[in-house]
Amino acid sequence: MAVKIPFVSEYVEKVASRLKVGEVRIFDTTLREGEQTPGVVFKLDEKIEIARQLDKLGVDTIEAGFPSSSEEEFKAVKSIASLGLQAEVCALTRTLRSDVDQALKADVDAIHTFIGTSEWHVKYKLKMTPEQVIERAVDTVEYIKDHGCTCEFSCEDATRTKLSFLVKVYKAVAEAGADRINVPDTVGVMSPEAMKYLVESLKEHIKVPISVHCHNDLGLANANALAAVVAGAEQVHVTVNGLGERAGHAALEVVAVGLEALYGAKTKIRKEYLTETCRLVEKYSLVYNPPNYPIVGRNAFAHRSGIHVHGVIEEPTTYEPFPPELVGQVRRIVFGKHSGKHGIKMLLEQLGLQVTDEQLTKIAERVRELGEQKKAVMEEDVYAIAESVIGGLPEAERAVALKELVVVTGNTITPTSSVILKVYDSEIRAAAVGVGPVDASAKAIEKALGKIGQYTLSEFRLEAITGGTDSLASVEIAIRDPEGSSFKAKAVDKDIVIASVTALVDAINKAIAFKKLKERKAEKPKS
Ligand code: KIV
Repeated sequence: MAVKIPFVSEYVEKVASRLKVGEVRIFDTTLREGEQTPGVVFKLDEKIEIARQLDKLGVDTIEAGFPSSSEEEFKAVKSIASLGLQAEVCALTRTLRSDVDQALKADVDAIHTFIGTSEWHVKYKLKMTPEQVIERAVDTVEYIKDHGCTCEFSCEDATRTKLSFLVKVYKAVAEAGADRINVPDTVGVMSPEAMKYLVESLKEHIKVPISVHCHNDLGLANANALAAVVAGAEQVHVTVNGLGERAGHAALEVVAVGLEALYGAKTKIRKEYLTETCRLVEKYSLVYNPPNYPIVGRNAFAHRSGIHVHGVIEEPTTYEPFPPELVGQVRRIVFGKHSGKHGIKMLLEQLGLQVTDEQLTKIAERVRELGEQKKAVMEEDVYAIAESVIGGLPEAERAVALKELVVVTGNTITPTSSVILKVYDSEIRAAAVGVGPVDASAKAIEKALGKIGQYTLSEFRLEAITGGTDSLASVEIAIRDPEGSSFKAKAVDKDIVIASVTALVDAINKAIAFKKLKERKAEKPKS
């Protein structure tokens, strides 16, 4: 069962109970509109993974692409349509029978067809008369319905189209059998109040469900999408991380949480998967949300000032709208040069680490020192400092030990590494190839650890301590866990590969131990 986001304020709750917003369909267009983001290209296997993730998240529709735009796009849409997902799989088409034929060949459940209706589009882009636009729209909708497909129709640039013409087109396509009409704010010029007015005006004439597609040119896409729902829209188009043309589009994560937390609306979105969905799309789009991005940003549940940290440690609701787990997020306490012993002690106690007064003074000094150099000292940094002051990880916390490492390398073969790891009480063997012996060994370790080894290497520094080929090598590495926490380790050996692997295993142990402590902290009942 999906977790519920509570109302965040009694004022919000009062207004929501007056508005009585019901169920809202979520039409995701990350793979179509999102891929129109400058520089974003999803490979076929990435599209499939994103589609599966969107399905797991619970979106109603996945707009998988624009099949007539290229052979690759056709293949991608067809592949997604054949996955047997719960979500409706939809393809975009122009109002052309040839486009519709391609979409039908891709075996989609629904077709979203569009034609420009504003004066600018009709006159300059299409070079058609308004009557020809209506004729083309009606013909395409009828053609789609004759083939038994669900049909969504969009008047492109609807928000700059005269209302009388807009009503005429939407009425004509509704009569022709369109199942839903979509209202695109193609160049993002609307205000929430204008959106509300437009949707209410359309609802007086059109009986089929109304959807909106809001661009973010003026930064109001999310607010406009919510306003449309308040006015009676039954569906919103969204993209993960707000990807889309120019300044982007209304964002799935913001709109879905806003609908529930601010209006009590129902969607099928399983909000606990929001953060992992956004991270997956960041990874494949290479467009990263800023840290202060709402809901899924890395700072969205991070607390820094002494007053906030104190409040949150005592009771998280003091400075959080809702618990981070509800959207798959984690709470972070950020320490720095002003951190006091009080907050540090509370954190360490919650992590289950007992320290003496003397150790606490040392830890606090080093946290403040680090705060002077770095902007943000995270929980894992405090943990690493505490661990070094206390004197290393307790043996029981060392989940992974390297038992054996064999590396084969040379100028005519691909470097290959085989490892035997002791993971808790089991012995696990794995082998992998890489661009060099260190890379092959890191990959072999990742393979051996499977699910518990999903870390990304964020830093790797190699230094020869003394001169000469028999010099000792010092390797310093940092790894990042899926939640963005970073763990550092250093090792010295006369063999570069052994030094690297020792540091890597050490950092992984720190990450696993930290995760365990955090889990314990989450389980601990509040006194
Ligand atoms: O932005 C837009 O107008 C569109 C339509 C095709 C819905 O993407």
